[in-house]
Amino acid sequence: KPLQLIDRFGRVVNYLRVSITDRCDFRCVYCMAEDMVFLPRSQILSLEEIRFICETFIELGVGKIRITGGEPLVRKGALGLLHDLGRVPGLNELVLTSNGSHLAEMADDLKAAGVKRINISLDTLDPAKFKELTRTGDLAQVLRGIEKARTAGFQRIKLNAVILKNRNHQEVCDLVQFAVEHGIDISFIEEMPLGTVNNHHRGDAFYPSDLIRQDLQQRFMLEAVADSTGGPSAYYRVAGSDSKVGFISPHSANFCGTCNRVRLTAEGRLLLCLGNEHSVDLKQIVREHPGDKALLKQAIVEAMQSKPEKHEFNIHEQPVILRHMNATGG
Ligand code: GTP
Ligand code: 5AD
Ligand code: SF4
Repeated sequence: KPLQLIDRFGRVVNYLRVSITDRCDFRCVYCMAEDMVFLPRSQILSLEEIRFICETFIELGVGKIRITGGEPLVRKGALGLLHDLGRVPGLNELVLTSNGSHLAEMADDLKAAGVKRINISLDTLDPAKFKELTRTGDLAQVLRGIEKARTAGFQRIKLNAVILKNRNHQEVCDLVQFAVEHGIDISFIEEMPLGTVNNHHRGDAFYPSDLIRQDLQQRFMLEAVADSTGGPSAYYRVAGSDSKVGFISPHSANFCGTCNRVRLTAEGRLLLCLGNEHSVDLKQIVREHPGDKALLKQAIVEAMQSKPEKHEFNIHEQPVILRHMNATGG
């Protein structure tokens, strides 16, 4: 019988999200404070350490790995890592989450490396608003990246839009229209309170998925589909199109019961839930016992016992989790 990672609640963990850097060329208002201090190089895992940990997870039954950041493509050597992981037997799905800023030049190489699907953040189609929400991003550059990714031949491209009331909630129909016209999918995300941010009040900006769905139904017919990518999105098909709309609703529709994932932070902590601090320091293990796969496996198997049942996010209170999203990759 093949090995499986199972937690105390009987959930099978077969999906690893790996943040390969906490750095990013954007400063999205919901993700980061304006003046972020990033980790020193010595504190983050080397690419070899990341590869070793990933291989170990694959041997423990993980079939899906998503590379995230920060922005993963700003890390030197990201492509080489993806290329190596793309060749590890047992990994069915190597996927990437990116802000799109480097896709125009990298999309073809990513496809060749073995990346199957890409999720690209896109919160607005208005260049000024894009600047406001990302602080340093350039919409035109990201749109070029999306276009390039589309022609590079990935299985699927999905947009991610974090929706904030009175900042971009007015644009949900236009974003779906964009997805439909480009034959790609889109997920709408309720903001999660990770770390303090300094330019909006998260409780006031909360815009629940139900409202987005109502807004969309003014212009589109949505048909619920059971189809899942093994992520937290609840999906609907846009009638008469190739596109699906997903809703990631940590506040209004908790999905922890079907959680199948854990995260490796850029610092090498194995984080057992996005919304809790339970973690195991894998960096210490791989640095003190380099190459000892058996020991690492044992630590990972044991870590499953401390995976919490669910997150305890409360968007209306000060964040309990001080870590920002960029340290975790979402
Ligand atoms: P696929 O379903 O594989 O396409 O990807 P995904 O939606 O799981 O991944 P992506 O990196 O695109 O993340 C989209 C959003 O979902 C981000 O805001 C993540 O923080 C959020 N997300 C993913 N997994 C979890 C989870 O376990 N808990 C919570 N609360 N949010 C999650
Ligand atoms: N809440 C919800 N989603 C977030 N993201 C970044 N920060 C937050 C947050 N606080 C999203 C990004 C990206 C995905 C990986 O996570 O927009 O699409
Ligand atoms: Fe960068 Fe993504 Fe955070 Fe935006 S949400 S600052 S693109 S890591």
